[in-house]
Amino acid sequence: MSLVITKTPEETLVLGENLGKCLEAGDIVLLFGDLGAGKTTLTQGICRGLGLPEGEYIRSPTFTLINEYQGTLPIYHIDLYRLESLEEMETLGLEEVLFGQGVAIVEWSEKLFPIDQKKDPLFRIDERIEVRITYMDECQRSFSVQPTHMAARSFPEFSLQ
Ligand SMILES: Nc1ncnc2c1ncn2[C@@H]1O[C@H](COP(=O)(O)OP(=O)(O)OP(=O)(O)O)[C@@H](O)[C@H]1O
Ligand SMILES: [Mg+2]
Repeated sequence: MSLVITKTPEETLVLGENLGKCLEAGDIVLLFGDLGAGKTTLTQGICRGLGLPEGEYIRSPTFTLINEYQGTLPIYHIDLYRLESLEEMETLGLEEVLFGQGVAIVEWSEKLFPIDQKKDPLFRIDERIEVRITYMDECQRSFSVQPTHMAARSFPEFSLQ
């Protein structure tokens, strides 16, 4: 597990970029954290790490629910904020993008644990990278990056370097 504190949005982009460089086809990144925590900012960094051209506009897919970008791999940026039930998530075709050949990045992953955050997530998601973001103050955010059930892969200690 890596714990990183960023002091600016740019530092969060760098952290995301370092994480993005380690991702492979089929990876699932689950983001947890409140409104304005920095989920989309981190996603922008991950996209940078996956070779998306700088300046490509990435924002929370709150209304579109899933945005797709083409980096070195397909990137599915998912926002579960507005979804209330398993049925809605199924209708959205979430399983297809989660278990497809791209990288899936999920904002509001709390919704994948409707009963108990300590239980297994919906859709039998097993291998994943969990990122928990905590708002410390206006400019500082803490990120815990935890590869989960990914024992077959080795990840570096994530940092701003
Ligand atoms: N260290 C930091 N890291 C990331 N964002 C920061 C930081 N400091 C300040 N900010 C600001 O906090 C905001 C983070 O917004 P962002 O859209 O990334 O959050 P979010 O978690 O996706 O929110 P939402 O739940 O609304 O989608 C931005 O306005 C950003 O400029
Ligand atoms: Mg967002």
